[in-house]
Amino acid sequence: MAMTITKLHDHVGAEIGGVDLSRPLDEATFAAIEEAFYQSSVLVVRRQDLPPERQIAFSQRFGPLEVHILDQYQLAGHPEILLLSNKTDADGKPLGLVEAGRYWHTDVSFTEVPSMGSFLYAVEIPPAGGDTLFASQFAAYDALPQDWKERLAGLKALHGLNKTTAPKFTDAQLASVKGVEHPLIRTHPKTGRKALYAGTFALRVLDVSEAESDEILAFLRDHWAQDDIVYRHRWQANDLVMWDNRSVLHCATLFDARFIRHMHRTTVAGEKPV
Ligand code: OGA
Ligand code: MN
Repeated sequence: MAMTITKLHDHVGAEIGGVDLSRPLDEATFAAIEEAFYQSSVLVVRRQDLPPERQIAFSQRFGPLEVHILDQYQLAGHPEILLLSNKTDADGKPLGLVEAGRYWHTDVSFTEVPSMGSFLYAVEIPPAGGDTLFASQFAAYDALPQDWKERLAGLKALHGLNKTTAPKFTDAQLASVKGVEHPLIRTHPKTGRKALYAGTFALRVLDVSEAESDEILAFLRDHWAQDDIVYRHRWQANDLVMWDNRSVLHCATLFDARFIRHMHRTTVAGEKPV
């Protein structure tokens, strides 16, 4: 069975066909997948039968895995797997993270060394809704007017949490979360391409007035997920979707809570954005 790589969108996303990720891949096949991942930012592999240990083994070929701090949401016996789920235990307590970010973000950009890749495997999905949206930040950068490219070059933003991203935090708790600084434009270490690096965790542009920071962030919010750079993933059970947090923003969407959405996530460690 020959492997196929089919673009899903002009700017972001490709589907890999003809592979069985439940078996170890040879070097050449893996290298082709890895290259497609960096180039397309999002890879979709449908109809995979991926028990936790196989998802972990495949993900680990991209680099060391992160274990999520929300240890109550780890899959029993497999701390590398974070549950995204609205299933509940016998006491009605959620088994996993119910809400993984219904706003544009790149994973844990409020940390010094944000995640590189997030790999989400659909175990059970609702009949409709719960799509995930991906916006190419290579394309968002390329589409910036020249004066904005110049204006943003060299600027950094403070990334942290706020009421939108952490609605359950009190003002005092939010104030206690120390933010981290990252460049607004980063260079992808594998492709050399420039990408916009902002999202909803970017709270303040540094070394400019508050008014100018507000103006820049408002411009970026209008710009970073224009329709023509967004791929919408409509989930089927047994899909594996992998995204490169260095070159896409993503956004979860609503679904009818009477249905189950149950996913296994592995996360590959990244590097400090430059
Ligand atoms: C995530 C995330 C989106 C979704 O896992 O980081 O944002 O649609 N997931 O579940
Ligand atoms: Mn996310």
